[in-house]
Amino acid sequence: MRKPFIAGNWKMNMTVASGTKLIEELKPLVKDANCDVALCVPAILIPAMKKAAEGSNIEIGAENMHWAKSGAFTGEISADMLKDYGVKYVIIGHSERRQYFGETDETVNKRTLAALEAGLTPIVCVGELLEERENGKTEAVLDRQLKVGLNGIEDITKIVIAYEPVWAIGTGKTATDEQAQETIAYIRKKIGELFCPKCAEKIIIQYGGSMNAGNCKGLMAQPDIDGGLIGGASLKTDFATIVNFDK
Ligand code: PGA
Repeated sequence: MRKPFIAGNWKMNMTVASGTKLIEELKPLVKDANCDVALCVPAILIPAMKKAAEGSNIEIGAENMHWAKSGAFTGEISADMLKDYGVKYVIIGHSERRQYFGETDETVNKRTLAALEAGLTPIVCVGELLEERENGKTEAVLDRQLKVGLNGIEDITKIVIAYEPVWAIGTGKTATDEQAQETIAYIRKKIGELFCPKCAEKIIIQYGGSMNAGNCKGLMAQPDIDGGLIGGASLKTDFATIVNFDK
């Protein structure tokens, strides 16, 4: 059985004060969750948010990391630095990184392998653009992102995949329950082909893209959707409603 996993992605939002306040509010609201819960936050907020979440079931994760162990990479952060603060999860290859910061399937692969090597759990994001969906290219795009991005992973069940159709991110335009289910089932099948059928049954695959307190129940009721990667709605206590989707 796959344990559901709801993760927030704060993106470039929040400060020490506002983030701490939100975590304090969320703690009692999510304490009886039946799923794993994480908030991925800007790197500079990790120490303070880790402190705020102490003693709770909220894990603090990162939003990106570099693949090198150390070196001349101004502005970057390594896996070891994240581990110093007890970080467990790191988002890799979010569509905003792909769109604005030159992330490719190859660099997604390097970061993912480095995260696993360091013992972190990467949340690897995949998903098609609107024009790719409209031109019937969704499966071809996912094939490429999965094949190249996940190349060389020994135990695929150690990663989490987030399927985030780019047209649904921050737009308020969620994929329908059926679209999300159908595409995530396709990703699971592909993982079975690329890795092993048993791994495909075990791997956690989240949906992301305008998931909110109102639509989470329908999405989470789908057999292949194991969780959510939540942007906008993770900046407020609505996040707790999503975490408690089964209540
Ligand atoms: P959204 O973002 O929930 O605001 O659409 C999701 C994400 O980008 O991970």
